[in-house]
Amino acid sequence: MSTVDSQQRVLSGMRPTGRLHLGHYNGVLKNWVKLQYEYECFFFVADWHALTTHYGDSAIFQEHVLNMVIDWLAVGVNPGSSSLFVQSKVPEHAELHLLLSMLTPQGWLERVPSYKDQQEKLSEKELDTYGFLGYPLLQAADILIYRAGYVPVGADQVAHVELTREVARRFNHIYGREHGFEENALAAVRKMGKKSARLYAQLRTAYQEQGDHEALEKGQALLKEQQNISIGDRERLFGFLEGSGKMILAEPQSLLTKASKMPGLDGQKMSNSYDNIISLREPLEEVENKIATMQTDPARVRLTDPGDPEKCPVWQFHQNYSSEETKTWVIEGCKSAGIGCLECKKPIIDAVTAELEPIQKEAAQYEKDPDIVRSILAEGSETARESAKKTIQDVREAMGLNTW
Ligand code: TRP
Ligand code: SF4
Repeated sequence: MSTVDSQQRVLSGMRPTGRLHLGHYNGVLKNWVKLQYEYECFFFVADWHALTTHYGDSAIFQEHVLNMVIDWLAVGVNPGSSSLFVQSKVPEHAELHLLLSMLTPQGWLERVPSYKDQQEKLSEKELDTYGFLGYPLLQAADILIYRAGYVPVGADQVAHVELTREVARRFNHIYGREHGFEENALAAVRKMGKKSARLYAQLRTAYQEQGDHEALEKGQALLKEQQNISIGDRERLFGFLEGSGKMILAEPQSLLTKASKMPGLDGQKMSNSYDNIISLREPLEEVENKIATMQTDPARVRLTDPGDPEKCPVWQFHQNYSSEETKTWVIEGCKSAGIGCLECKKPIIDAVTAELEPIQKEAAQYEKDPDIVRSILAEGSETARESAKKTIQDVREAMGLNTW
Protein backbone atom coordinates (compact mmCIF):
# COMPACT_ATOMS: atom_id res chain seq x y z
CA MET A 1 0.00 0.00 0.00
CA SER A 2 1.35 3.43 -0.82
CA THR A 3 1.64 6.37 1.53
CA VAL A 4 -1.35 7.84 -0.20
CA ASP A 5 -3.78 5.00 0.39
CA SER A 6 -2.60 4.53 3.92
CA GLN A 7 -3.92 7.97 4.79
CA GLN A 8 -7.18 6.11 5.36
CA ARG A 9 -5.50 3.97 7.94
CA VAL A 10 -6.11 4.29 11.68
CA LEU A 11 -3.64 3.19 14.31
CA SER A 12 -3.88 3.21 18.07
CA GLY A 13 -2.20 1.53 20.99
CA MET A 14 -2.95 0.89 24.60
CA ARG A 15 -0.57 0.11 27.43
CA PRO A 16 -1.22 -3.12 29.30
CA THR A 17 -1.21 -1.56 32.73
CA GLY A 18 -4.24 -3.18 34.33
CA ARG A 19 -7.82 -4.32 34.04
CA LEU A 20 -9.90 -2.42 31.51
CA HIS A 21 -12.83 -0.61 33.05
CA LEU A 22 -15.91 1.40 32.14
CA GLY A 23 -13.78 4.50 31.58
CA HIS A 24 -11.79 2.71 28.85
CA TYR A 25 -14.96 1.33 27.38
CA ASN A 26 -16.81 4.64 27.15
CA GLY A 27 -13.76 6.75 26.36
CA VAL A 28 -11.78 4.62 23.95
CA LEU A 29 -13.16 1.24 23.02
CA LYS A 30 -16.60 2.31 21.79
CA ASN A 31 -14.76 4.61 19.45
CA TRP A 32 -12.47 1.82 18.18
CA VAL A 33 -15.46 -0.39 17.51
CA LYS A 34 -16.98 2.36 15.38
CA LEU A 35 -13.74 3.25 13.57
CA GLN A 36 -13.03 -0.33 12.54
CA TYR A 37 -16.00 -0.20 10.17
CA GLU A 38 -14.97 3.14 8.66
CA TYR A 39 -11.21 2.73 8.22
CA GLU A 40 -8.51 0.13 7.94
CA CYS A 41 -7.58 -0.22 11.60
CA PHE A 42 -4.51 -1.41 13.49
CA PHE A 43 -4.84 -1.73 17.25
CA PHE A 44 -1.95 -2.91 19.35
CA VAL A 45 -0.85 -3.65 22.89
CA ALA A 46 1.93 -1.19 23.65
CA ASP A 47 4.00 -3.51 25.84
CA TRP A 48 7.29 -1.75 25.17
CA HIS A 49 5.63 1.51 26.20
CA ALA A 50 4.63 -0.03 29.50
CA LEU A 51 8.31 -0.83 30.07
CA THR A 52 9.24 2.84 29.90
CA THR A 53 7.53 3.36 33.26
CA HIS A 54 7.17 -0.20 34.61
CA TYR A 55 10.54 -1.72 33.73
CA GLY A 56 10.82 -2.86 37.35
CA ASP A 57 7.65 -4.95 37.30
CA SER A 58 7.43 -6.23 33.76
CA ALA A 59 6.36 -9.69 34.91
CA ILE A 60 3.18 -8.24 36.39
CA PHE A 61 1.95 -6.50 33.31
CA GLN A 62 2.71 -9.50 31.09
CA GLU A 63 -0.46 -11.11 32.37
CA HIS A 64 -2.40 -7.98 31.38
CA VAL A 65 -1.47 -8.39 27.72
CA LEU A 66 -3.73 -11.30 26.94
CA ASN A 67 -6.45 -10.09 29.28
CA MET A 68 -6.55 -6.72 27.63
CA VAL A 69 -7.01 -8.27 24.24
CA ILE A 70 -9.79 -10.46 25.65
CA ASP A 71 -11.52 -7.28 26.79
CA TRP A 72 -11.11 -5.70 23.34
CA LEU A 73 -12.65 -8.73 21.71
CA ALA A 74 -15.43 -8.95 24.28
CA VAL A 75 -16.59 -5.38 23.63
CA GLY A 76 -16.75 -5.95 19.90
CA VAL A 77 -13.36 -5.07 18.47
CA ASN A 78 -13.52 -7.40 15.53
CA PRO A 79 -10.39 -9.16 14.24
CA GLY A 80 -12.15 -9.50 10.88
CA SER A 81 -12.28 -5.72 10.55
CA SER A 82 -9.10 -4.67 12.30
CA SER A 83 -5.62 -6.07 12.91
CA LEU A 84 -4.81 -6.71 16.55
CA PHE A 85 -1.27 -7.33 17.66
CA VAL A 86 1.38 -6.90 20.32
CA GLN A 87 4.05 -4.26 19.73
CA SER A 88 7.00 -6.42 20.77
CA LYS A 89 6.05 -8.99 18.11
CA VAL A 90 6.75 -6.42 15.39
CA PRO A 91 10.42 -5.55 15.84
CA GLU A 92 10.29 -3.07 12.96
CA HIS A 93 8.90 -0.54 15.47
CA ALA A 94 12.22 -0.76 17.30
CA GLU A 95 14.33 -0.39 14.18
CA LEU A 96 12.43 2.68 13.07
CA HIS A 97 12.67 4.11 16.58
CA LEU A 98 16.44 3.66 16.50
CA LEU A 99 16.80 5.25 13.08
CA LEU A 100 14.56 8.19 13.98
CA SER A 101 16.53 8.73 17.19
CA MET A 102 19.52 9.68 15.05
CA LEU A 103 17.80 12.75 13.68
CA THR A 104 15.53 13.79 16.54
CA PRO A 105 16.87 16.71 18.56
CA GLN A 106 16.91 15.92 22.26
CA GLY A 107 15.15 19.21 23.04
CA TRP A 108 12.07 18.09 21.12
CA LEU A 109 11.68 15.22 23.56
CA GLU A 110 12.48 17.23 26.68
CA ARG A 111 9.80 19.73 25.73
CA VAL A 112 6.99 17.16 25.39
CA PRO A 113 4.64 18.17 28.24
CA SER A 114 4.10 14.63 29.55
CA TYR A 115 7.85 14.24 30.16
CA LYS A 116 8.16 16.49 33.21
CA ASP A 117 4.53 15.90 34.29
CA GLN A 118 4.88 12.17 34.51
CA GLN A 119 8.30 12.34 36.13
CA GLU A 120 6.77 14.45 38.87
CA LYS A 121 3.62 12.38 39.17
CA LEU A 122 5.49 9.11 39.33
CA SER A 123 8.23 10.51 41.52
CA GLU A 124 8.61 7.23 43.41
CA LYS A 125 10.04 5.71 40.23
CA GLU A 126 13.41 6.40 38.73
CA LEU A 127 12.31 7.87 35.38
CA ASP A 128 15.47 9.67 34.54
CA THR A 129 16.06 7.06 31.89
CA TYR A 130 16.89 7.12 28.23
CA GLY A 131 13.84 4.98 27.44
CA PHE A 132 11.42 7.26 29.23
CA LEU A 133 12.75 10.35 27.49
CA GLY A 134 12.47 8.54 24.18
CA TYR A 135 9.00 7.16 24.65
CA PRO A 136 7.17 9.75 22.54
CA LEU A 137 9.61 8.92 19.77
CA LEU A 138 8.80 5.24 20.13
CA GLN A 139 5.17 6.27 19.74
CA ALA A 140 6.12 8.24 16.63
CA ALA A 141 7.74 5.10 15.24
CA ASP A 142 4.59 3.10 16.05
CA ILE A 143 2.56 5.48 13.95
CA LEU A 144 4.99 6.16 11.11
CA ILE A 145 5.85 2.51 10.54
CA TYR A 146 2.25 2.03 9.28
CA ARG A 147 2.05 5.41 7.58
CA ALA A 148 -1.20 5.84 9.45
CA GLY A 149 -3.33 8.82 8.51
CA TYR A 150 -5.31 9.00 11.75
CA VAL A 151 -4.49 8.33 15.36
CA PRO A 152 -7.36 8.27 17.85
CA VAL A 153 -5.96 9.61 21.11
CA GLY A 154 -7.02 11.46 24.23
CA ALA A 155 -6.07 15.09 24.80
CA ASP A 156 -2.97 14.08 26.78
CA GLN A 157 -1.50 12.38 23.70
CA VAL A 158 -2.06 15.08 21.10
CA ALA A 159 1.42 16.50 21.71
CA HIS A 160 2.86 13.08 20.81
CA VAL A 161 1.09 13.05 17.46
CA GLU A 162 2.34 16.58 16.87
CA LEU A 163 5.90 15.39 17.58
CA THR A 164 5.31 12.53 15.16
CA ARG A 165 4.43 15.02 12.44
CA GLU A 166 7.55 17.03 13.10
CA VAL A 167 9.77 13.97 13.03
CA ALA A 168 8.18 12.80 9.75
CA ARG A 169 8.70 16.22 8.23
CA ARG A 170 12.32 16.32 9.34
CA PHE A 171 12.92 12.85 7.98
CA ASN A 172 11.34 13.67 4.63
CA HIS A 173 13.29 16.89 4.49
CA ILE A 174 16.63 15.20 5.10
CA TYR A 175 16.14 11.97 3.17
CA GLY A 176 13.45 12.82 0.66
CA ARG A 177 15.89 14.76 -1.47
CA GLU A 178 16.76 11.93 -3.77
CA HIS A 179 19.32 12.66 -6.42
CA GLY A 180 17.56 14.36 -9.34
CA PHE A 181 14.30 14.82 -7.42
CA GLU A 182 13.15 17.84 -9.41
CA GLU A 183 13.75 16.20 -12.81
CA ASN A 184 12.08 13.00 -11.66
CA ALA A 185 9.11 14.97 -10.39
CA LEU A 186 8.78 16.92 -13.63
CA ALA A 187 8.95 13.71 -15.64
CA ALA A 188 6.22 12.27 -13.41
CA VAL A 189 4.05 15.35 -14.03
CA ARG A 190 4.22 14.69 -17.76
CA LYS A 191 3.10 11.11 -17.25
CA MET A 192 -0.23 12.33 -15.90
CA GLY A 193 -1.41 13.55 -19.29
CA LYS A 194 -1.76 17.12 -20.50
CA LYS A 195 -4.93 18.15 -18.76
CA SER A 196 -4.06 16.82 -15.34
CA ALA A 197 -0.49 18.04 -15.67
CA ARG A 198 -1.65 21.58 -16.34
CA LEU A 199 -4.09 21.49 -13.43
CA TYR A 200 -1.40 20.06 -11.12
CA ALA A 201 1.00 22.85 -12.07
CA GLN A 202 -1.62 25.52 -11.42
CA LEU A 203 -2.57 24.09 -8.06
CA ARG A 204 1.06 23.74 -7.05
CA THR A 205 1.74 27.38 -7.87
CA ALA A 206 -1.39 28.50 -6.02
CA TYR A 207 -0.29 26.62 -2.94
CA GLN A 208 3.37 27.46 -3.00
CA GLU A 209 3.02 31.12 -3.97
CA GLN A 210 -0.20 32.08 -2.21
CA GLY A 211 -0.39 29.42 0.49
CA ASP A 212 -3.80 28.39 -0.86
CA HIS A 213 -4.68 25.32 1.21
CA GLU A 214 -7.70 24.48 -0.85
CA ALA A 215 -5.41 24.21 -3.86
CA LEU A 216 -3.18 21.83 -1.90
CA GLU A 217 -6.15 19.62 -1.09
CA LYS A 218 -7.38 19.69 -4.68
CA GLY A 219 -3.89 18.78 -5.85
CA GLN A 220 -3.77 15.85 -3.44
CA ALA A 221 -7.18 14.68 -4.61
CA LEU A 222 -6.02 14.94 -8.20
CA LEU A 223 -3.02 12.73 -7.44
CA LYS A 224 -5.17 10.16 -5.72
CA GLU A 225 -7.27 9.84 -8.86
CA GLN A 226 -4.33 9.22 -11.19
CA GLN A 227 -4.31 5.69 -12.54
CA ASN A 228 -1.32 5.84 -14.83
CA ILE A 229 1.51 6.69 -12.52
CA SER A 230 3.58 4.43 -10.31
CA ILE A 231 3.50 4.54 -6.53
CA GLY A 232 6.99 6.05 -6.46
CA ASP A 233 5.99 8.81 -8.86
CA ARG A 234 2.85 9.51 -6.92
CA GLU A 235 4.80 9.99 -3.71
CA ARG A 236 7.28 12.20 -5.51
CA LEU A 237 4.40 14.32 -6.78
CA PHE A 238 2.91 14.63 -3.32
CA GLY A 239 6.21 15.98 -2.07
CA PHE A 240 6.71 18.22 -5.09
CA LEU A 241 3.22 19.68 -4.60
CA GLU A 242 3.97 20.64 -1.03
CA GLY A 243 7.42 21.90 -1.80
CA SER A 244 9.20 19.21 0.18
CA GLY A 245 11.10 16.27 -1.19
CA LYS A 246 9.68 12.83 -1.77
CA MET A 247 7.26 11.93 0.98
CA ILE A 248 8.63 8.78 2.60
CA LEU A 249 6.91 9.02 5.96
CA ALA A 250 3.36 10.29 6.13
CA GLU A 251 2.26 12.93 8.62
CA PRO A 252 -0.63 11.64 10.70
CA GLN A 253 -3.49 13.56 12.28
CA SER A 254 -4.97 13.05 15.70
CA LEU A 255 -8.57 12.02 15.96
CA LEU A 256 -9.29 13.55 19.32
CA THR A 257 -11.31 11.19 21.48
CA LYS A 258 -13.74 13.13 23.62
CA ALA A 259 -12.95 12.61 27.27
CA SER A 260 -15.40 10.19 28.77
CA LYS A 261 -17.89 11.88 31.06
CA MET A 262 -17.84 8.80 33.21
CA PRO A 263 -16.15 9.50 36.51
CA GLY A 264 -14.90 6.89 38.92
CA LEU A 265 -16.94 5.81 41.90
CA ASP A 266 -15.53 8.73 43.89
CA GLY A 267 -16.15 11.40 41.25
CA GLN A 268 -12.49 11.62 40.18
CA LYS A 269 -11.38 10.25 36.82
CA MET A 270 -11.90 6.47 36.70
CA SER A 271 -8.42 5.02 36.94
CA ASN A 272 -6.75 1.82 38.10
CA SER A 273 -4.45 3.87 40.28
CA TYR A 274 -7.32 5.49 42.27
CA ASP A 275 -9.14 2.30 43.22
CA ASN A 276 -12.43 3.74 41.95
CA ILE A 277 -13.13 1.53 38.95
CA ILE A 278 -15.79 -0.83 37.72
CA SER A 279 -13.84 -3.28 35.62
CA LEU A 280 -15.40 -4.83 32.54
CA ARG A 281 -15.23 -8.23 34.15
CA GLU A 282 -16.38 -7.20 37.61
CA PRO A 283 -18.87 -9.80 38.92
CA LEU A 284 -22.35 -8.29 38.53
CA GLU A 285 -23.21 -8.52 42.24
CA GLU A 286 -20.06 -6.56 42.91
CA VAL A 287 -21.09 -3.95 40.34
CA GLU A 288 -24.39 -3.54 42.12
CA ASN A 289 -22.67 -3.30 45.46
CA LYS A 290 -20.14 -0.73 44.25
CA ILE A 291 -22.78 1.53 42.75
CA ALA A 292 -25.08 1.18 45.75
CA THR A 293 -22.31 2.34 48.06
CA MET A 294 -20.79 5.01 45.87
CA GLN A 295 -20.61 8.62 47.02
CA THR A 296 -23.48 11.05 46.43
CA ASP A 297 -23.92 14.75 47.09
CA PRO A 298 -22.53 15.11 50.65
CA ALA A 299 -25.35 17.57 51.45
CA ARG A 300 -27.86 14.71 51.36
CA VAL A 301 -27.27 13.24 54.76
CA ARG A 302 -30.91 12.35 55.32
CA LEU A 303 -33.57 11.42 52.84
CA THR A 304 -35.30 14.73 53.58
CA ASP A 305 -32.22 16.83 52.67
CA PRO A 306 -32.46 18.16 49.12
CA GLY A 307 -29.42 17.59 46.90
CA ASP A 308 -27.77 18.94 43.79
CA PRO A 309 -27.01 16.49 40.96
CA GLU A 310 -24.15 18.71 39.81
CA LYS A 311 -22.33 17.82 43.00
CA CYS A 312 -22.93 14.10 42.66
CA PRO A 313 -20.92 11.53 40.68
CA VAL A 314 -24.08 9.45 40.26
CA TRP A 315 -25.46 12.21 38.05
CA GLN A 316 -22.54 11.81 35.66
CA PHE A 317 -23.41 8.17 35.35
CA HIS A 318 -26.96 9.23 34.46
CA GLN A 319 -25.57 11.48 31.76
CA ASN A 320 -23.90 8.47 30.20
CA TYR A 321 -26.67 5.95 30.67
CA SER A 322 -30.08 7.51 31.16
CA SER A 323 -32.89 8.76 28.92
CA GLU A 324 -34.05 12.38 29.06
CA GLU A 325 -37.05 11.24 31.00
CA THR A 326 -35.01 9.55 33.69
CA LYS A 327 -32.68 12.53 33.90
CA THR A 328 -35.60 14.88 34.51
CA TRP A 329 -36.84 12.52 37.19
CA VAL A 330 -33.41 12.62 38.84
CA ILE A 331 -33.08 16.41 38.79
CA GLU A 332 -36.55 17.00 40.15
CA GLY A 333 -36.44 14.19 42.68
CA CYS A 334 -32.97 15.11 43.94
CA LYS A 335 -33.61 18.84 44.33
CA SER A 336 -36.93 18.33 46.07
CA ALA A 337 -35.77 15.41 48.20
CA GLY A 338 -38.53 13.45 46.51
CA ILE A 339 -36.38 10.38 45.76
CA GLY A 340 -33.77 8.58 47.78
CA CYS A 341 -30.20 8.10 46.54
CA LEU A 342 -30.54 4.36 46.34
CA GLU A 343 -33.69 4.78 44.28
CA CYS A 344 -31.80 7.20 42.05
CA LYS A 345 -29.01 4.68 41.57
CA LYS A 346 -31.32 1.86 40.56
CA PRO A 347 -31.53 2.78 36.85
CA ILE A 348 -27.72 3.05 36.77
CA ILE A 349 -27.30 -0.36 38.32
CA ASP A 350 -29.69 -1.75 35.72
CA ALA A 351 -28.00 0.00 32.82
CA VAL A 352 -24.45 -0.89 33.79
CA THR A 353 -25.23 -4.53 34.50
CA ALA A 354 -27.16 -4.77 31.23
CA GLU A 355 -24.16 -3.32 29.41
CA LEU A 356 -21.65 -5.60 31.09
CA GLU A 357 -23.56 -8.84 30.93
CA PRO A 358 -23.06 -9.59 27.21
CA ILE A 359 -19.45 -8.37 27.40
CA GLN A 360 -18.76 -10.78 30.23
CA LYS A 361 -20.36 -13.64 28.34
CA GLU A 362 -18.09 -12.99 25.39
CA ALA A 363 -15.03 -12.62 27.60
CA ALA A 364 -15.78 -15.95 29.28
CA GLN A 365 -15.60 -17.71 25.92
CA TYR A 366 -12.14 -16.33 25.25
CA GLU A 367 -10.98 -17.00 28.79
CA LYS A 368 -11.90 -20.61 28.29
CA ASP A 369 -9.95 -20.80 25.09
CA PRO A 370 -7.02 -18.37 25.15
CA ASP A 371 -5.47 -20.13 22.16
CA ILE A 372 -8.05 -18.41 19.98
CA VAL A 373 -6.78 -15.09 21.28
CA ARG A 374 -3.19 -16.09 20.61
CA SER A 375 -4.01 -17.02 17.05
CA ILE A 376 -5.88 -13.75 16.50
CA LEU A 377 -2.76 -11.92 17.68
CA ALA A 378 -0.48 -14.05 15.52
CA GLU A 379 -2.55 -13.26 12.47
CA GLY A 380 -2.74 -9.57 13.33
CA SER A 381 1.03 -9.40 13.80
CA GLU A 382 1.54 -10.94 10.42
CA THR A 383 -0.61 -8.34 8.69
CA ALA A 384 1.06 -5.58 10.67
CA ARG A 385 4.55 -6.84 9.86
CA GLU A 386 3.89 -7.00 6.18
CA SER A 387 3.07 -3.35 6.18
CA ALA A 388 5.85 -2.41 8.61
CA LYS A 389 8.47 -4.21 6.52
CA LYS A 390 7.54 -2.22 3.47
CA THR A 391 8.05 1.07 5.31
CA ILE A 392 11.32 0.02 6.92
CA GLN A 393 12.59 -1.02 3.49
CA ASP A 394 11.78 2.43 2.09
CA VAL A 395 13.37 4.09 5.10
CA ARG A 396 16.58 2.07 4.78
CA GLU A 397 16.78 2.88 1.12
CA ALA A 398 16.15 6.58 1.67
CA MET A 399 18.92 6.65 4.29
CA GLY A 400 21.30 4.82 2.01
CA LEU A 401 21.39 1.70 4.16
CA ASN A 402 21.24 -1.77 2.60
CA THR A 403 21.91 -0.53 -0.85
CA TRP A 404 24.85 -2.82 -1.55
N1 TRP B 1 1.26 6.37 24.58
C1 TRP B 1 -0.09 5.86 24.53
C2 TRP B 1 -0.69 5.90 25.93
O1 TRP B 1 0.02 6.00 26.88
C3 TRP B 1 -0.14 4.48 23.99
C4 TRP B 1 0.44 4.40 22.61
C5 TRP B 1 1.65 3.90 22.30
C6 TRP B 1 -0.14 4.87 21.41
N2 TRP B 1 1.88 3.99 20.94
C7 TRP B 1 0.79 4.59 20.38
C8 TRP B 1 -1.34 5.49 21.11
C9 TRP B 1 0.54 4.95 19.07
C10 TRP B 1 -1.59 5.85 19.79
C11 TRP B 1 -0.65 5.56 18.78
O2 TRP B 1 -1.90 5.81 26.04
FE1 SF4 C 1 -26.97 12.00 43.65
FE2 SF4 C 1 -29.26 10.97 42.85
FE3 SF4 C 1 -28.73 11.20 45.47
FE4 SF4 C 1 -29.20 13.36 44.02
S1 SF4 C 1 -30.62 11.71 44.43
S2 SF4 C 1 -27.55 13.10 45.49
S3 SF4 C 1 -28.27 12.78 42.03
S4 SF4 C 1 -27.67 9.90 43.98
